[in-house]
Amino acid sequence: MAQFKSKAGVIAATVGSAVGVGTVWRFPAEAQAGGGAAFLLIYTAFVFILGVPLMLGELAVGRAGRSDAIGAFRALSPRTGWWGVGLASIIVTFLIMIFYMVVGGWMLEYFIESIDGGLYGGIPEGNHDNFFNGRMEEYVISGYSTLIYAVLFILINIIVLLRGVQKGIERMSNIMMPMLFVLLVLFCVVSLSLPNAGEGVAYFLNPDFSKITAETCLSALGQALFSLSLGMGVLITYAGYYPADAHLTRTSVTVVSMTLVVAILMGLIIFPAVTSFGLTDHSLGGTALIFVTLPEIFASMPGCHVWSALFFLLLFMAALTSTISLGEVMVRFVQDRFHKSRNAAVWIVLGPMCILSAVCSLSFGELEWVKVFGHSMFDYLDMISNEYMLPLIAFGTCLYVGWFAPKGLMRNQLSNNNALRTPAATAIIFILRYLAPLAIIAIMI
Ligand code: PFF
Repeated sequence: MAQFKSKAGVIAATVGSAVGVGTVWRFPAEAQAGGGAAFLLIYTAFVFILGVPLMLGELAVGRAGRSDAIGAFRALSPRTGWWGVGLASIIVTFLIMIFYMVVGGWMLEYFIESIDGGLYGGIPEGNHDNFFNGRMEEYVISGYSTLIYAVLFILINIIVLLRGVQKGIERMSNIMMPMLFVLLVLFCVVSLSLPNAGEGVAYFLNPDFSKITAETCLSALGQALFSLSLGMGVLITYAGYYPADAHLTRTSVTVVSMTLVVAILMGLIIFPAVTSFGLTDHSLGGTALIFVTLPEIFASMPGCHVWSALFFLLLFMAALTSTISLGEVMVRFVQDRFHKSRNAAVWIVLGPMCILSAVCSLSFGELEWVKVFGHSMFDYLDMISNEYMLPLIAFGTCLYVGWFAPKGLMRNQLSNNNALRTPAATAIIFILRYLAPLAIIAIMI
């Protein structure tokens, strides 16, 4: 079975999966809606108290089972129904991949349009708002170009996945993750040196606890699970490639901390930039944040093409390292279950994705009339996976590793079969048995 070559590769690939558009784009919008630092505090508590143990649960199953998301459960608990948790995660991975590829296509499109000038060509003097709304309408909402970029983005995924675990996933993550951090720090410095940046920082870091409701907690939980790629079989699949001596606890704390740092850096980039340019709260939400507000800001800066291209490159890399991990879950599954070669599995999974994502990308424009229970296809996939399936799968994973997995699985995996000292093991197992399932259920109810 393939393996990641180095410890750095293990971290880069796992952080790469975690840090995606959920962290760099959705987090600032959620933080704004949830009272700035108040949301950040709840999110931080969730990622450390629930996220680290849950991640360890998945990593333990993955490294002990060394198979795909279903096969790992089967290897550990044969002739039981626990493989159903793996099956659910494979289904949700497939659903998320459909719309995530579309989002990745948008990033690629804006990156290329920033370089070749399409995005900023013919920009009027003064108020740019309508101009970028028009661009978003043309590129993201109604345009067929979106469809082409989604397919292009999928092709890039195919190329990386065809190259395999070490030469594809690991090598790409080793290059892209450091670049992503450099770009984040660069944008943070630029944003914090804008006039009135302090106002934005205060907006982000002063907690407004009045905005905290049960709904906010559910969003923070969904955000924590999604941004750490939990409940999707990714960590189970990737852990199958971890070397036997990888330190799981250290890895998971590192991955969670790095994801949190990225989320905070994004807050420190977005909020000061938005307030410095005198834009309103509304400029922070949803699709408009990335495709209207930020281009508006770049347009007022000297060298706008370069800044814009670098920013969308950052988003593109974040998206790509995440979709690769989603793709790998399915590829591994097809390889193991149907005994296919890696090449065949990559095409079997990502070939149809070209069509499904293309259809999904039209759900804003031509196919806007197609509704699933009153939602657009895109929104429905996003909602069903985040708000229902991820918490449920996370719940199933806690029950499994906390109560039903073979005795000693967690302790052996955390301690690498007693080679490491694991002072936190008891606390982690306690959280997985009691706290995490109760918290997930309470929040869902
Ligand atoms: N964690 C990624 C993000 O925050 O965007 C999204 C993601 C990646 C979700 C991989 C699921 C997954 F399997």
